Amino acid sequence: MSTVNIKIDGKEFVVKEDEYILNAARANDIFIPAICYLTRCSPTLACRICLVEADGKQVYACNAKVKEGMEVTVDTPNILQERRAIMEVYDVNHPLQCGVCDKSGECELQNYTLQLGVDSQSYMIQDTKRETKNWSSVLHYDAGLCIVCERCTTVCKDMIGDAAIKTTKRGGEALDKGYKTSMPKDAYSMWNKLQKSIIAPSNGTDFTDCSDCGECAAVCPVGALVSRDFQYTSNAWDLSRVPAVSAHSSDGFQIFYEVKPASIEDREEKIFRVTNEWNYVSLDGSARFAYDFENRGVSKDKKAFNSAVEALKKAKTIRFNSVITNEEALMLQKLKEELGLKLYNPEVRAFQKFLNFYKEASGNSLYTTDADAIMKNSDFVISLGTALRNDAPGLKYAFNNVQKLNKGAGLYFHTIADKLIPTFGKSVESFIHKAGLEEAALYLILDLFADESKLPSDVKDYIASFKSSETKTVKEKVMKTIKEMVKDEETGESKEVSKKVSEMVEKEITIEKNGLVDLLGGNSDKFEETFAKMMKKKESFSMMIGEDLYYHENAQNIAKLIALVEKTTSIDVVMSPPKANALGVALICDLSDEAEGYTVGYNENGDFRLSALGDGDLDMPAMNQQEGTLTNMSKRVVPTNAALSYGGYELNDLVSEFIEAKRETIDWTIELPTDKGYKAVAFDSLSNSYSNDGTENRGYLLEVSSSDVEEILVDKFDETLALDGEIIYRCNPARQFSDFTDKAHEIFEPFGLYASVAKAEELGEKVEIEFENGSIVVDVIVDDKMEGNITKLSDFKSAKDIYGLFGESRYKIATVRKA
Ligand code: SF4
Ligand code: SF4
Ligand code: FES
Repeated sequence: MSTVNIKIDGKEFVVKEDEYILNAARANDIFIPAICYLTRCSPTLACRICLVEADGKQVYACNAKVKEGMEVTVDTPNILQERRAIMEVYDVNHPLQCGVCDKSGECELQNYTLQLGVDSQSYMIQDTKRETKNWSSVLHYDAGLCIVCERCTTVCKDMIGDAAIKTTKRGGEALDKGYKTSMPKDAYSMWNKLQKSIIAPSNGTDFTDCSDCGECAAVCPVGALVSRDFQYTSNAWDLSRVPAVSAHSSDGFQIFYEVKPASIEDREEKIFRVTNEWNYVSLDGSARFAYDFENRGVSKDKKAFNSAVEALKKAKTIRFNSVITNEEALMLQKLKEELGLKLYNPEVRAFQKFLNFYKEASGNSLYTTDADAIMKNSDFVISLGTALRNDAPGLKYAFNNVQKLNKGAGLYFHTIADKLIPTFGKSVESFIHKAGLEEAALYLILDLFADESKLPSDVKDYIASFKSSETKTVKEKVMKTIKEMVKDEETGESKEVSKKVSEMVEKEITIEKNGLVDLLGGNSDKFEETFAKMMKKKESFSMMIGEDLYYHENAQNIAKLIALVEKTTSIDVVMSPPKANALGVALICDLSDEAEGYTVGYNENGDFRLSALGDGDLDMPAMNQQEGTLTNMSKRVVPTNAALSYGGYELNDLVSEFIEAKRETIDWTIELPTDKGYKAVAFDSLSNSYSNDGTENRGYLLEVSSSDVEEILVDKFDETLALDGEIIYRCNPARQFSDFTDKAHEIFEPFGLYASVAKAEELGEKVEIEFENGSIVVDVIVDDKMEGNITKLSDFKSAKDIYGLFGESRYKIATVRKA
């Protein structure tokens, strides 16, 4: 990392080169007031309160970069005057409803008003009526409270990628002309803009068509944008914050469960909301809103416990899923070893096999990058084998962020066109290809990015076999000079004049065709030129891959191709683990390909059910009632804490009936397998925070090893594997990952078959889908961002056993009938 030396208020600091002054100050614990700027997003210059003096000139700290030798002064008399005026302006006509406002106590308007000592008001203007609106099932907007800082629109565009809200005309009164000369300049400009705008859904309606992530409300500095469910339920200062990990997607986002007693009568703690360190981590809708999935009112049921012990004694298999801590996964592994059981987890098994294939082929114990590194460094990103919007919120944010912040480019390979992806940036190219052709996409990636000298000759020849040239006759407009006689109107004499005219001529041109581009749904006539533009000034390349590849018939060859991509290109790869703690389970447990005999289900179907969902034969604590660790997509072992109490038995109690157990579940943390990269660190020694410069200090990173491999032998792909017909894709709606998200009252996405508008119209309201080994009747639900004929069947309800219907694939050809 290159650095420069600067001085802030006379103190010397070594800071990152190319950093904004504001970030450099924050990283060194220097406070500069700032309202509109969001770390990891582009500066909007809406508030102007971050004014500082740099080398004698007034600049905005959020938008001016540090330079070698720069001297920054945070406060000068003029700047203090500007800031004070800005805060006075923000307070003009701001409704005095702090007593009931949701933001009171954590409101930046309150804080800065006090901090800058605003105890009188110099400005006034007639207020305009500003409407209060419910934009969606989760968002409530009060335009009267809005200070138009644009944080909400910025995070939605730059980070989330939905760009679902924007500033729009407010129709406010014009400022008194006298203010232009009588008040501080920046305060005037800010006020002028503020009077003109409010925030509204970008689609021109009163409702946001978005992924309901709630991040806009999280970043709102005042009470203008709040969660509808949280509104008027609690004062911020009544809530206690419990640092934890989101239990749903494999991003393993850090969250805070905010709790207090349910009511005056009911003193049992309840989660009222989830908050986050939004400067460093952006949540998806499941992390923010799927928080109330606890198993309430459970006490120790000795009879049920004894039955569970008997069930385990006769069990041949334990079936479970990814919503489990590393410690529980280790307990199951120990039980397996002790009792000779099979561990069956169809959510994770394919991923585990894929990781092993990759390790064998590449010599790396784990993949080479993560979402955070992509956001920070990458300017070219490829997504392959994942329905980005549904599967991997953190990777979707990273893909979008690369386009918006890093002036990047992106290639999106998938079988289903997603209308949102091309909106991320002008340099995003989507390849919508047939299911089964993922290997072809990897050969194209090798063709486009590999250092040819590193490619095995058979691979080079194979790629070359897709190239051809074609002579085409095209029509071209050419300008031609012709001579003609014209008569001079005055003299009547004829004279010869030259004139340029256009003419269409035929011309033969040679077009280089790339069969891989065409096979994958692209157009090789145009792609070469487009790709050349995309590659301009690009230096850092990354690829995100997902479940479609793990469940592919040729997963082993795909893993080898991924290893070859890493070896022959400068692309780093991140793998999206399917859901929650899939990576932890894949590393800790020896999983079997199938279940057999008497099965104990843990939050899954079985002859005996251990369940944290409140519907089993023996109750278990849910993830928000447990301490332990998870292994997230970034290869980080992160600690989670219990937000709510639990009075029943835990897995640890059951395991102690069979093997020497630990007193507490978290006593297992130190024993997580070091040969898989875990460290012998006790739970209580794990930190759980971010530094002011954004450095993540949560838990620890897995140790990753790599060894040299001789050569990577890859197979050609088989075009006949491409699926045709009525194809069903196993894929959840965004915000749904499991029975736990489904249980949460603020998650509304129903189980069903999701289809594009046209396809849904063709299918009707309800269909029966017949697979080779069973059938299911489901509602058809429109996903207006989908295009094409492939439909998505949810898998988040374990009772429906969708994994049983799909077996070891993610795509199935089925018969679909109206029901
Ligand atoms: S709603 Fe909140 S975040 Fe958005 S512009 Fe208004 S004050 Fe800023
Ligand atoms: S909820 Fe998320 S996607 Fe919707 S407007 Fe807010 S930030 Fe954008
Ligand atoms: S924080 Fe710099 S202009 Fe708002």
